[in-house]
Amino acid sequence: MKILKTIEELKEIRKTINLSVGFVPTMGALHDGHISLIKQAREENDVVIVSIFVNPTQFLPGEDLDKYPKKDEADKKICEMCKVDYVFMPEISTMYQKEEVLIKAPNISYILEGESRPGHFDGVLQVVLKLFNLTKPTNAYFGKKDAQQLALIQQMVKNLFLDINIVPCEIVREKDGLALSSRNVYLNDTQRKDALLISKSLYQAASLVGKGEKKSAILKAKMYEIMKNLEVEYIAIVNRNFNQIEEVELKNTIILVVARFGNTRLLDNIWL
Ligand code: PAJ
Repeated sequence: MKILKTIEELKEIRKTINLSVGFVPTMGALHDGHISLIKQAREENDVVIVSIFVNPTQFLPGEDLDKYPKKDEADKKICEMCKVDYVFMPEISTMYQKEEVLIKAPNISYILEGESRPGHFDGVLQVVLKLFNLTKPTNAYFGKKDAQQLALIQQMVKNLFLDINIVPCEIVREKDGLALSSRNVYLNDTQRKDALLISKSLYQAASLVGKGEKKSAILKAKMYEIMKNLEVEYIAIVNRNFNQIEEVELKNTIILVVARFGNTRLLDNIWL
Protein backbone atom coordinates (compact mmCIF):
# COMPACT_ATOMS: atom_id res chain seq x y z
CA MET A 1 0.00 0.00 0.00
CA LYS A 2 1.29 3.45 -0.87
CA ILE A 3 0.41 6.72 0.82
CA LEU A 4 0.12 9.58 -1.65
CA LYS A 5 0.18 13.19 -0.51
CA THR A 6 0.57 15.27 -3.65
CA ILE A 7 -1.40 15.74 -6.86
CA GLU A 8 1.74 14.96 -8.86
CA GLU A 9 2.25 11.58 -7.16
CA LEU A 10 -1.37 10.59 -7.65
CA LYS A 11 -1.41 11.69 -11.30
CA GLU A 12 1.83 9.87 -11.99
CA ILE A 13 0.50 6.63 -10.45
CA ARG A 14 -2.88 6.96 -12.17
CA LYS A 15 -1.17 7.20 -15.56
CA THR A 16 0.34 3.75 -15.06
CA ILE A 17 -2.99 2.02 -14.25
CA ASN A 18 -4.85 0.45 -17.15
CA LEU A 19 -7.09 -1.71 -15.01
CA SER A 20 -10.38 -1.01 -13.24
CA VAL A 21 -10.14 1.46 -10.36
CA GLY A 22 -12.47 1.43 -7.36
CA PHE A 23 -12.49 4.69 -5.41
CA VAL A 24 -13.77 5.30 -1.87
CA PRO A 25 -13.74 8.94 -0.77
CA THR A 26 -13.77 9.46 3.02
CA MET A 27 -13.01 12.02 5.68
CA GLY A 28 -11.15 9.44 7.75
CA ALA A 29 -11.82 8.21 11.29
CA LEU A 30 -12.66 5.01 9.48
CA HIS A 31 -15.24 2.65 10.97
CA ASP A 32 -17.03 -0.48 9.77
CA GLY A 33 -19.28 1.62 7.51
CA HIS A 34 -16.29 2.88 5.56
CA ILE A 35 -14.69 -0.56 5.71
CA SER A 36 -17.70 -2.17 4.03
CA LEU A 37 -17.36 0.30 1.13
CA ILE A 38 -13.64 -0.42 0.87
CA LYS A 39 -14.22 -4.19 0.95
CA GLN A 40 -16.81 -3.95 -1.80
CA ALA A 41 -14.42 -1.83 -3.87
CA ARG A 42 -11.69 -4.42 -3.26
CA GLU A 43 -13.95 -7.22 -4.51
CA GLU A 44 -15.09 -5.41 -7.62
CA ASN A 45 -11.93 -3.71 -8.91
CA ASP A 46 -8.30 -4.40 -9.80
CA VAL A 47 -7.00 -1.33 -8.03
CA VAL A 48 -8.48 0.39 -4.96
CA ILE A 49 -7.87 4.02 -4.04
CA VAL A 50 -9.16 5.49 -0.76
CA SER A 51 -9.00 9.20 -0.05
CA ILE A 52 -8.84 10.59 3.47
CA PHE A 53 -9.47 14.31 3.49
CA VAL A 54 -11.50 16.38 5.94
CA ASN A 55 -12.88 18.76 3.37
CA PRO A 56 -13.21 22.29 4.79
CA THR A 57 -15.57 23.58 2.09
CA GLN A 58 -18.40 21.29 3.18
CA PHE A 59 -18.37 22.52 6.79
CA LEU A 60 -20.33 25.63 7.70
CA PRO A 61 -18.90 28.24 10.07
CA GLY A 62 -19.37 26.97 13.63
CA GLU A 63 -19.54 23.31 12.61
CA ASP A 64 -17.12 20.67 13.87
CA LEU A 65 -14.36 21.10 11.23
CA ASP A 66 -11.69 21.81 13.87
CA LYS A 67 -12.65 18.96 16.13
CA TYR A 68 -13.61 16.43 13.44
CA PRO A 69 -12.00 13.16 14.66
CA LYS A 70 -8.57 12.56 13.09
CA LYS A 71 -7.09 9.07 13.24
CA ASP A 72 -4.51 8.99 10.47
CA GLU A 73 -2.38 6.17 11.85
CA ALA A 74 -5.32 3.87 12.66
CA ASP A 75 -6.87 4.70 9.28
CA LYS A 76 -3.70 3.71 7.44
CA LYS A 77 -3.66 0.37 9.30
CA ILE A 78 -7.30 -0.27 8.39
CA CYS A 79 -6.59 0.48 4.73
CA GLU A 80 -3.58 -1.82 4.82
CA MET A 81 -5.71 -4.62 6.30
CA CYS A 82 -8.35 -4.09 3.61
CA LYS A 83 -5.65 -4.43 0.94
CA VAL A 84 -6.08 -0.92 -0.39
CA ASP A 85 -3.51 -0.08 -3.06
CA TYR A 86 -3.30 3.69 -2.63
CA VAL A 87 -4.39 6.06 0.12
CA PHE A 88 -4.58 9.69 -0.96
CA MET A 89 -4.14 12.00 2.05
CA PRO A 90 -3.65 15.55 0.77
CA GLU A 91 -3.26 18.77 2.76
CA ILE A 92 -5.92 21.46 2.39
CA SER A 93 -3.45 23.65 0.48
CA THR A 94 -2.91 20.77 -1.96
CA MET A 95 -6.60 20.50 -2.77
CA TYR A 96 -7.58 24.18 -2.84
CA GLN A 97 -6.13 27.28 -4.39
CA LYS A 98 -6.74 30.91 -3.44
CA GLU A 99 -9.52 31.35 -5.93
CA GLU A 100 -11.71 28.51 -7.03
CA VAL A 101 -14.27 27.72 -9.68
CA LEU A 102 -17.31 26.81 -7.62
CA ILE A 103 -19.81 24.04 -8.12
CA LYS A 104 -23.39 24.93 -7.38
CA ALA A 105 -25.47 21.98 -6.27
CA PRO A 106 -29.04 21.88 -7.66
CA ASN A 107 -32.25 22.64 -5.78
CA ILE A 108 -32.53 19.40 -3.85
CA SER A 109 -29.37 20.47 -2.07
CA TYR A 110 -31.31 23.22 -0.30
CA ILE A 111 -33.90 21.00 1.36
CA LEU A 112 -33.47 18.66 4.34
CA GLU A 113 -29.70 18.42 4.98
CA GLY A 114 -29.15 21.40 2.72
CA GLU A 115 -31.69 23.50 4.59
CA SER A 116 -29.91 22.85 7.89
CA ARG A 117 -26.50 23.18 6.25
CA PRO A 118 -26.84 25.64 3.34
CA GLY A 119 -23.86 25.38 1.00
CA HIS A 120 -22.74 22.03 2.48
CA PHE A 121 -23.45 20.11 -0.71
CA ASP A 122 -21.70 22.69 -2.92
CA GLY A 123 -18.56 21.82 -0.93
CA VAL A 124 -19.21 18.09 -1.14
CA LEU A 125 -19.63 18.19 -4.93
CA GLN A 126 -16.62 20.47 -5.33
CA VAL A 127 -14.28 18.09 -3.52
CA VAL A 128 -15.77 14.92 -4.98
CA LEU A 129 -15.40 16.28 -8.52
CA LYS A 130 -11.76 17.18 -7.82
CA LEU A 131 -11.16 13.70 -6.40
CA PHE A 132 -12.90 12.05 -9.37
CA ASN A 133 -10.73 14.06 -11.78
CA LEU A 134 -7.60 12.93 -9.98
CA THR A 135 -8.45 9.27 -9.42
CA LYS A 136 -10.50 8.75 -12.61
CA PRO A 137 -12.35 5.81 -11.04
CA THR A 138 -14.22 3.10 -12.90
CA ASN A 139 -16.46 2.64 -9.84
CA ALA A 140 -16.94 5.02 -6.90
CA TYR A 141 -18.52 3.84 -3.65
CA PHE A 142 -20.92 5.87 -1.50
CA GLY A 143 -23.01 4.91 1.53
CA LYS A 144 -26.79 5.07 1.46
CA LYS A 145 -26.49 6.53 4.96
CA ASP A 146 -25.85 9.90 3.34
CA ALA A 147 -28.77 9.45 0.99
CA GLN A 148 -29.01 13.04 -0.20
CA GLN A 149 -25.25 13.22 -0.82
CA LEU A 150 -25.51 10.02 -2.86
CA ALA A 151 -28.41 11.39 -4.92
CA LEU A 152 -26.53 14.63 -5.63
CA ILE A 153 -23.39 12.81 -6.67
CA GLN A 154 -25.44 10.63 -9.02
CA GLN A 155 -26.95 13.79 -10.47
CA MET A 156 -23.54 15.44 -10.87
CA VAL A 157 -22.22 12.39 -12.72
CA LYS A 158 -25.24 12.52 -15.02
CA ASN A 159 -25.24 16.30 -15.56
CA LEU A 160 -21.51 16.57 -16.17
CA PHE A 161 -21.33 13.40 -18.32
CA LEU A 162 -18.75 11.79 -16.05
CA ASP A 163 -17.83 8.30 -17.07
CA ILE A 164 -18.01 6.86 -13.56
CA ASN A 165 -20.24 4.16 -12.12
CA ILE A 166 -21.60 5.23 -8.73
CA VAL A 167 -22.16 2.26 -6.44
CA PRO A 168 -24.63 2.82 -3.57
CA CYS A 169 -23.69 0.77 -0.48
CA GLU A 170 -25.88 -0.49 2.36
CA ILE A 171 -25.89 1.21 5.76
CA VAL A 172 -23.73 -0.54 8.36
CA ARG A 173 -25.08 -0.50 11.93
CA GLU A 174 -23.97 -1.42 15.42
CA LYS A 175 -25.53 -4.67 16.65
CA ASP A 176 -28.19 -2.67 18.48
CA GLY A 177 -29.18 -0.74 15.35
CA LEU A 178 -27.32 2.58 15.64
CA ALA A 179 -25.98 3.57 12.22
CA LEU A 180 -22.19 3.86 12.34
CA SER A 181 -20.90 7.39 12.08
CA SER A 182 -17.60 9.11 12.78
CA ARG A 183 -19.62 11.49 14.95
CA ASN A 184 -20.90 8.74 17.30
CA VAL A 185 -17.74 9.26 19.37
CA TYR A 186 -19.16 12.61 20.50
CA LEU A 187 -22.08 10.91 22.30
CA ASN A 188 -22.07 10.41 26.07
CA ASP A 189 -23.60 7.25 27.57
CA THR A 190 -27.11 8.63 27.91
CA GLN A 191 -27.08 10.12 24.42
CA ARG A 192 -25.75 6.84 23.03
CA LYS A 193 -28.70 5.01 24.60
CA ASP A 194 -31.22 7.61 23.43
CA ALA A 195 -29.76 7.52 19.91
CA LEU A 196 -31.10 3.99 19.55
CA LEU A 197 -34.57 5.42 19.26
CA ILE A 198 -33.67 6.76 15.80
CA SER A 199 -33.21 3.35 14.18
CA LYS A 200 -36.03 1.96 16.31
CA SER A 201 -38.41 4.57 14.86
CA LEU A 202 -37.27 3.75 11.32
CA TYR A 203 -37.76 0.01 11.84
CA GLN A 204 -41.17 0.66 13.35
CA ALA A 205 -42.17 2.75 10.32
CA ALA A 206 -40.92 0.02 7.96
CA SER A 207 -42.89 -2.56 9.90
CA LEU A 208 -46.05 -0.46 9.66
CA VAL A 209 -45.51 -0.15 5.91
CA GLY A 210 -45.14 -3.94 5.83
CA LYS A 211 -48.55 -4.17 7.47
CA GLY A 212 -50.10 -1.97 4.79
CA GLU A 213 -49.81 1.55 6.23
CA LYS A 214 -48.92 3.97 3.44
CA LYS A 215 -49.73 7.43 4.79
CA SER A 216 -46.63 9.49 5.47
CA ALA A 217 -48.43 11.54 8.14
CA ILE A 218 -49.30 8.44 10.15
CA LEU A 219 -45.82 6.98 9.80
CA LYS A 220 -44.24 10.27 10.86
CA ALA A 221 -46.59 10.62 13.86
CA LYS A 222 -45.58 7.16 15.06
CA MET A 223 -41.90 8.00 14.62
CA TYR A 224 -42.23 11.30 16.50
CA GLU A 225 -43.96 9.42 19.30
CA ILE A 226 -41.07 6.95 19.59
CA MET A 227 -38.56 9.81 19.54
CA LYS A 228 -40.63 12.15 21.73
CA ASN A 229 -37.75 12.70 24.16
CA LEU A 230 -35.24 13.48 21.43
CA GLU A 231 -34.51 16.75 19.68
CA VAL A 232 -35.68 15.66 16.25
CA GLU A 233 -34.61 18.11 13.56
CA TYR A 234 -36.65 16.48 10.84
CA ILE A 235 -38.37 13.34 9.67
CA ALA A 236 -38.90 13.25 5.92
CA ILE A 237 -40.52 10.69 3.68
CA VAL A 238 -39.31 11.19 0.13
CA ASN A 239 -39.08 9.40 -3.18
CA ARG A 240 -35.75 8.76 -4.89
CA ASN A 241 -35.90 12.27 -6.40
CA PHE A 242 -36.14 13.64 -2.89
CA ASN A 243 -39.65 14.98 -3.35
CA GLN A 244 -41.68 14.67 -0.15
CA ILE A 245 -44.54 12.24 -0.70
CA GLU A 246 -47.84 11.84 1.13
CA GLU A 247 -48.00 8.12 0.53
CA VAL A 248 -45.21 5.59 0.54
CA GLU A 249 -44.33 4.29 -2.93
CA LEU A 250 -42.91 0.80 -2.56
CA LYS A 251 -39.31 0.41 -3.77
CA ASN A 252 -39.14 4.16 -4.30
CA THR A 253 -39.23 5.58 -0.79
CA ILE A 254 -36.63 6.75 1.69
CA ILE A 255 -37.52 7.70 5.25
CA LEU A 256 -34.95 10.09 6.71
CA VAL A 257 -34.36 11.22 10.27
CA VAL A 258 -32.01 13.76 11.77
CA ALA A 259 -31.81 14.20 15.53
CA ARG A 260 -29.59 16.43 17.62
CA PHE A 261 -27.73 15.42 20.75
CA GLY A 262 -26.19 18.63 22.00
CA ASN A 263 -24.03 19.81 19.11
CA THR A 264 -23.98 16.40 17.46
CA ARG A 265 -26.34 15.75 14.57
CA LEU A 266 -27.06 12.13 13.77
CA LEU A 267 -28.52 11.09 10.42
CA ASP A 268 -30.19 7.84 9.62
CA ASN A 269 -32.58 6.51 7.01
CA ILE A 270 -34.22 3.45 5.65
CA TRP A 271 -34.87 2.61 1.99
CA LEU A 272 -38.24 0.96 1.42
P1 PAJ B 1 -17.55 10.34 5.38
O1 PAJ B 1 -18.55 10.87 6.33
O2 PAJ B 1 -16.19 9.97 5.91
O3 PAJ B 1 -18.17 9.09 4.65
C1 PAJ B 1 -17.48 8.44 3.61
C2 PAJ B 1 -18.43 7.43 2.99
O4 PAJ B 1 -18.78 6.45 3.96
C3 PAJ B 1 -19.75 8.09 2.52
O5 PAJ B 1 -20.09 7.57 1.25
C4 PAJ B 1 -20.74 7.66 3.59
O6 PAJ B 1 -22.08 7.58 3.13
C5 PAJ B 1 -20.20 6.28 3.94
N1 PAJ B 1 -20.68 5.86 5.28
C6 PAJ B 1 -20.58 6.54 6.44
N2 PAJ B 1 -21.20 5.86 7.44
C7 PAJ B 1 -21.70 4.72 6.88
C8 PAJ B 1 -22.45 3.61 7.37
N3 PAJ B 1 -22.79 3.52 8.64
N4 PAJ B 1 -22.79 2.64 6.49
C9 PAJ B 1 -22.43 2.73 5.18
N5 PAJ B 1 -21.73 3.75 4.65
C10 PAJ B 1 -21.37 4.73 5.49
O7 PAJ B 1 -19.34 11.43 3.25
C11 PAJ B 1 -18.23 11.93 3.40
O8 PAJ B 1 -17.27 11.41 4.22
C12 PAJ B 1 -17.81 13.16 2.64
O9 PAJ B 1 -18.94 13.98 2.41
C13 PAJ B 1 -17.08 12.86 1.30
C14 PAJ B 1 -17.99 12.12 0.32
C15 PAJ B 1 -15.81 12.05 1.56
C16 PAJ B 1 -16.66 14.19 0.63
O10 PAJ B 1 -15.85 14.95 1.46
